[in-house]
Amino acid sequence: MNNIKIKKTNSAEETIHLGHQVGLLLKPEMTILLAGDLAAGKTTLTKGIGLALGIKAVINSPSFTILKRYLEDEVKLYHLDLYRLDDEGMDFDLEDYINSDGITVIEWPFNVKSLLPKEYLLIEIEIISENKRNFTFKAKGRKYQEVVDYL
Ligand SMILES: Nc1ncnc2c1ncn2[C@@H]1O[C@H](COP(=O)(O)OP(=O)(O)OP(=O)(O)O)[C@@H](O)[C@H]1O
Ligand SMILES: [Mg+2]
Repeated sequence: MNNIKIKKTNSAEETIHLGHQVGLLLKPEMTILLAGDLAAGKTTLTKGIGLALGIKAVINSPSFTILKRYLEDEVKLYHLDLYRLDDEGMDFDLEDYINSDGITVIEWPFNVKSLLPKEYLLIEIEIISENKRNFTFKAKGRKYQEVVDYL
């Protein structure tokens, strides 16, 4: 058992496929943190997660809205992008906007550390070249360890 796993993709399509694999392993109440530079592929990976969860709407960048909610009967996906925020003057309470039994995906998670739960699946995305990306999966907490094990 290793709580770190690395996956590589060679195209955006492969990243969507990887997101799909991740999405199939997610359960209600899970939080996924996506770290990586601009255009690393955070939103692209989230598209695949949404497909696996049966989200019908196309997932795109929530950059200008901070939070997008995808509410299906079976599953709720909360997609946050904290790029424009920081801990300074951050007074919003995530619980007011999300239903705790949903799945939460957060881009730029470390911009607002006060919002982060104690346990999560962290996915660090590294840009290798124009089309190549490395994804490092790190589990913080037992239920996330299971996700990493099955990947
Ligand atoms: N292997 C790959 N995986 C993901 N995206 C790739 C890959 N190769 C090229 N790309 C391109 O990189 C871009 C990734 O954009 P995306 O919106 O997913 O990034 P992001 O990490 O969400 O950025 P931002 O911080 O601006 O929200 C897209 O234009 C995509 O086509
Ligand atoms: Mg994005």
